[in-house]
Amino acid sequence: MFSIVSSLLSNTQGAPENFWLSEQASTVAESVDITFFVITWICYFFFALIVALLVIFAVKYRRTSPDITVSGPTHNTALELTWTIIPLILVVVIFTVGMNGYLNLREAPEGCYEVSVTGQKWTWTFDHPQYGATQVGELTVPVGKPVRLLMTSNDVIHSVWIPDFRVKMDVIPGRYTSLWFEATKVGDYILNCTEYCGKDHSAMLAWVHVVPEDEFDGRMKKLASEYVDMSVGQLPAYAINRLYNRCQSCHSLDGSESTGPSFKGLWDRVSSGDVAFTSGEKLSGLLGDTTTYGVPENYIRESIVDPQGHIVQGYLGSMPSFQGQLKDKQITAIIEMFKHLRDVTDAAGNITVNTDGTPRQ
Ligand code: CUA
Repeated sequence: MFSIVSSLLSNTQGAPENFWLSEQASTVAESVDITFFVITWICYFFFALIVALLVIFAVKYRRTSPDITVSGPTHNTALELTWTIIPLILVVVIFTVGMNGYLNLREAPEGCYEVSVTGQKWTWTFDHPQYGATQVGELTVPVGKPVRLLMTSNDVIHSVWIPDFRVKMDVIPGRYTSLWFEATKVGDYILNCTEYCGKDHSAMLAWVHVVPEDEFDGRMKKLASEYVDMSVGQLPAYAINRLYNRCQSCHSLDGSESTGPSFKGLWDRVSSGDVAFTSGEKLSGLLGDTTTYGVPENYIRESIVDPQGHIVQGYLGSMPSFQGQLKDKQITAIIEMFKHLRDVTDAAGNITVNTDGTPRQ
C-alpha cells in the first residue's frame, strides 16, 4: 500500500530535496517521510472538503426572507456512521504506521557501532571507545552500518537532531539516552542541538561525516594516534582542539572564574611560582633543584594525574584524576598548550587554530 502511496506522492521519492523536508540520508528517512506526507495529504483533503461544504451550505441554505421558519436539524444515522467510521479507520492506520516507525527508531539493531556522546554548553563531544579516539564538533561514521549513540549531558538538557537522518533524541544530565541510525549515503550532514540550552544554543552544531566503510577504520586509527608523530611545536594546536574539551567545563580560556583556575596566564603564574596552595605552601618554594618539583612542568603533570596533591587556594579541589586517561605525550601537549596559549587562542579565549595548525576562520 505504501509503495503505491509513495509513488503517488512523487515528491517523496527520488528527489533529494522537497519543499517540506531535507535530503533522505538514512534507512528510516523514507518511511518517516511517507508517514508525514500521508498525514499531510489527509489534512489537505479534509481542509478542502470542509471549507468547500461550508461555502456551499452557507450559500445554498442562507435565509432568503425574514418570514421563513424551519424546524431544527434532527439526526441522520447514515451520515453519522460515515463521519465516525471513516476517521476511525484513518486514525487506526496512522497509529499503526506511527507505532511501527516509533518502535523501529527506539530499538537499535544488533551489532551497532557504538559512540558515546556528551553534550555540554555548547559543544558536542563524540568518543569512539572501540578506537580510543575522541572528536569534538564532528562525528565520523561508516556508511551502511548501524550506529548507536549513547548520550548524556554535563550540564543542562540538550537534544541531538540529525535532520537528514530523521532522528532526534534528548540528551539529559544524570542519565543516558540512546539513538540509532544507519546512513545510506557518503557525505557531510548537520547535527543540531534542538533543545534551547542557553546563549549559544543556536551555535551548538556538529558535522556528521559519513565515510565509506573501508576508509572508516583507517581514519579512526589515525585520529586515535595523530599526536604520536607530532613534533613538540605542533602539540599546542593538537591539545587545544583535541584535549581541551575535557577541561573546558572547569577551566576557562578568557580569564573568567570557574570551578578551577583559568588557563589564561596559567603558565606565567606557574613558571614564576606565584601560586599559593590551601596547605599554606607557595609553589615558588617547591621549585628549583633539590625540591619537590624541580621544574614547573612537574607541578602541572602532578595537577593532571594527582589533582588532590596540591590544591590552589580559593578552589575546592573537585578535579578528577586523569591518570591512565592521557598518554605521556598528551600531557606534554597540554603543558605546551599552556606555554603557547597566546598562539592558539585570542584575548577573548576563542580557539584560533585547527588541529593541523591552520588558522580557524
Ligand atoms: Cu544544547 Cu541547545
